[in-house]
Amino acid sequence: MKRHVGIEALAIAVPRRYVDIEDLARARGVDPAKYTAGLGAREMAVADPGEDSVSLAATAAARLLRTHQVDPARIGMLVVGTETGVDHSKPVASHVQGLLKLPRTMRVYDTQHACYGGTAGLMAASEWIASGAAAGRSAIVVCSDIARYGLNTAGEPTQGAGAVALLVSEQPDLLALDVGLNGSCSMDVYDFWRPLGRREAVVDGHYSIQCYLDALSGAYRAWRQNALTREVVRWGSTLPGDQLARILYHVPFCKMARKAHTQLRLCDLEDAPNSPAATPEAREELAKSAASYEAQVASSLTLNARIGNVYTASLYLALAGLLHKESAALSGQRIGLLSYGSGCASEFFSGVVGEKAAWRMAQADMEAVLAGRERVSVQEYERIMNLPYDAPEALAPAAGTFRLAEIRDHKRRYVEGAAS
Ligand code: HMG
Repeated sequence: MKRHVGIEALAIAVPRRYVDIEDLARARGVDPAKYTAGLGAREMAVADPGEDSVSLAATAAARLLRTHQVDPARIGMLVVGTETGVDHSKPVASHVQGLLKLPRTMRVYDTQHACYGGTAGLMAASEWIASGAAAGRSAIVVCSDIARYGLNTAGEPTQGAGAVALLVSEQPDLLALDVGLNGSCSMDVYDFWRPLGRREAVVDGHYSIQCYLDALSGAYRAWRQNALTREVVRWGSTLPGDQLARILYHVPFCKMARKAHTQLRLCDLEDAPNSPAATPEAREELAKSAASYEAQVASSLTLNARIGNVYTASLYLALAGLLHKESAALSGQRIGLLSYGSGCASEFFSGVVGEKAAWRMAQADMEAVLAGRERVSVQEYERIMNLPYDAPEALAPAAGTFRLAEIRDHKRRYVEGAAS
C-alpha cells in the first residue's frame, strides 16, 4: 500500500460570462444584502449552450496538461465527476479523451452522485494508485457541472458553472491525501434531484441544508474516529477540528460553509470528554465562533463567491481558492475537506499541503482565468438561460478552450479555439 498519494496539480475552467449578483438581486426586487451577506455571493457564472459539461471539462483538462506539461503517456485513468452529463450512456469522459487525443490504453468513465460525484472519482483514482494497481501511472479527475435552478426561483442566486481538473499521482505536490482516514455518511433522502429530461434541478432548499449538516456530522465523526486512532488529532487543550490548519467544505453558496463549520465545531463540543461548554446553549454559542471561521474557512471562498455553485467542482474550487492565496503559508500543514452530494452522500477526508504547492499554483494562474470573463446584464443572462440546449450560438471559442458547435444525428461536435 502506497501512502504518498494525492493531488499533484490542478486547473480550472469557467464560462466566458458572468452576472453580478447585486444586479440580479435588484432585477428580482430583492435587497442585495440577502444575496451578498445572506448567501455570501458576489458573481455568478453564466454558461451558454456552447459551454456544456463536456466543453468545460475538456477546457480544464487541456489546461491542466498544457500548464503542467503532463505527458499523456503517464495517464492510466480519466474520470469525470458530473451530475449534468450530456447523454444517458456515453460518458463526458470519453468526449474529453477524444478531444484531448489521449491514449486508448486507459480507464475512462464518469462518476455520478450529485455534488459528491467528483469526490467519488478522486477516491477511485487515489485508491487505485495507493493499491499499487496503477503501476506508477497517474489519473486525471475532472469535476464539471452547470448548476441550474431556473429564473425567478429561490435557487436562482445559487447557480453557477465551471470545471476543475485534478492530476492525481504518487507525487502530490499540492495535497498528499491521508489514505485510509476518510469518514463517510450516506442517507436516502429527497433534498435535491433532477428527474430525467429536466434541465433544472428540483430542490427542497431548507431541507437540503439540514441534510447537508446531518451528513457532515456523520462523516466528520467517522473521520475523527479514524484520525484519533491513528493519533493524527487528539482530545486535548484544543478540539480535534481546531488541529486542522484549514477546513474546506462543499460550497453550494458561500454562507453554507459558515453553517457547516458551526456544525463541525458543534460535533467536537458535544463529544469532547471535557467540553469547554457545559450546556447546549453554551455549545451553540462557542460553535458559532467568528474567529474560528475566519481562521479556518473564510480564505478558501474567494473563487466560489465569484463563480457560484459548480456542484461536483465546488469543493475543489475551494481548494483552488485556498491554495491560490495561502499555499506557501500552509506548506506541510494538514487541512480537512468535506464533500456533500444531495440524495445524499458525504465524505470527510484530509491531506497535507505539499512543499511545491506555491510553485504549482503560480503556474495555474487563477487570476488570468477569471480576468478573461465578461460581465453581462441580467437581460443578457436571461436571454442565455432561455436558449435551447441543443442549438448553441455560433461563437468562436477563446484560445485554448472548447465549445459545442452543433448536435447532428444526436452526435455532438466540439471545436477548439486556436492557441493565441
Ligand atoms: P431563500 O429561502 O430564498 O433564502 O433560499 P432565506 O430566506 O433562507 O435567506 C437566505 C439567508 O439570507 C438567510 O440567512 C437569511 O437570514 C438571509 P441564514 O438565516 O440562513 O443565515 N437574509 C438576509 N441577509 C441580509 N440582508 C437581508 C436578508 N434577507 C435574508 N436583507 C436557499 C435560500 C439556499 C434555500 C435557496 O437559495 C436554495 O434553495 N438554493 C439551492 C439549494 C442549496 O443550495 N442547498 C444547499 C445544501 S444541499 C447541497 O449543497 C447540494 C447541492 O449543491 C446539489 C448537489 O449535491 O448536487 C445543492
